[in-house]
Amino acid sequence: MKENLLPSLIFSECTEEQAPLLVDFEKTIATPKLYSIPLDLTGALKEISNHTYYFIMRDNKIVGTAAYSVREDASCYISGMAVSPECRGQGIARAAMEFLLKKCDDSWRVDLVTHPENFRSIPLYESFGFVTELTIENFYGDGEPRIIMAKNNTPAEELRILPCSTDIEWQAAKTYRQKYFTNKASTEDPYISILHDKAHQHYVLYNRTTIIGYAHIQLWSENSAAIRIMMIEDHKLEHDFGKWFIEQLEGRLKKEGIGSLYTQCSPSALYFYTDLGYASMPWQDPDGYDGQADDIAVGKTL
Ligand SMILES: CC(C)(COP(=O)(O)OP(=O)(O)OC[C@H]1O[C@@H](n2cnc3c(N)ncnc32)[C@H](O)[C@@H]1OP(=O)(O)O)[C@@H](O)C(=O)NCCC(=O)NCCS
Repeated sequence: MKENLLPSLIFSECTEEQAPLLVDFEKTIATPKLYSIPLDLTGALKEISNHTYYFIMRDNKIVGTAAYSVREDASCYISGMAVSPECRGQGIARAAMEFLLKKCDDSWRVDLVTHPENFRSIPLYESFGFVTELTIENFYGDGEPRIIMAKNNTPAEELRILPCSTDIEWQAAKTYRQKYFTNKASTEDPYISILHDKAHQHYVLYNRTTIIGYAHIQLWSENSAAIRIMMIEDHKLEHDFGKWFIEQLEGRLKKEGIGSLYTQCSPSALYFYTDLGYASMPWQDPDGYDGQADDIAVGKTL
């Protein structure tokens, strides 16, 4: 068994003035495919300002870096973990993970991003209980896929709905939209360039630490709104998660002063909506999208 190195390491928070040191360290890691393209000065400054970034010090020498941040929703993101090539295999990353996870003790979720072929980092994260949730192609725009790994700190079956705010949530939203427009609507996504428009709301549904659904709401005039997209992962269907999701959305919209909620559904989804109190109503789409030929327009007074 390896020695627990934690007591012999010092985690020194990286300051803006030390950004050049971080750039120099990053050059020594340089495995662009599995890790990332080394940070330049601008990138290093951005990382230092967005995350708590540590130099891992041993005997006054930098032997690695580790970084994390706490999101507004109290989940944590481990944004960095790297050990100098000559110091690897000694337990430094394991000690750094222990250090970071202590910082994230109160968090309901801790997640991170790594390359699906990173044969060194994946076993490390798995040994701390992280599981792979999602693979996203071209995550950093470098043409390479990345996986989202997360550690669950919440009771089983917990559901949460959150407005999309993190990169991971927006990537998940885009993946769901792509699936929706490719498989269901067979058209180009007409809203892809205006996802952040304030008349559009985007929510993800978490089951424990895993994103299992997505909804796109468009605010219409006269205190009405429309569900543009509502999707639940196929393997999570028939658990009433969709019902819970819609009820949460309705509650939120009602608080915002929305009185009527409309949607267009396929004949197979009609029962789902009627069961939730939706009835046939005209579809007066301000954008003029007609949907599929057999779609049925339904609505509900909230
Ligand atoms: C991944 C990395 C941080 C591991 O650092 P390290 O200090 O060598 O790791 P440790 O010695 O603490 O080993 C911890 C665990 O990692 C895994 N691991 C580390 N090196 C490994 C290897 N060569 N093969 C398989 N698993 C390995 C093992 O699970 C190991 O636990 P064990 O020794 O009990 O089996 C290091 O290889 C690195 O900096 N790689 C480049 C940057 C990178 O890819 N970072 C991850 C980005 S998400």
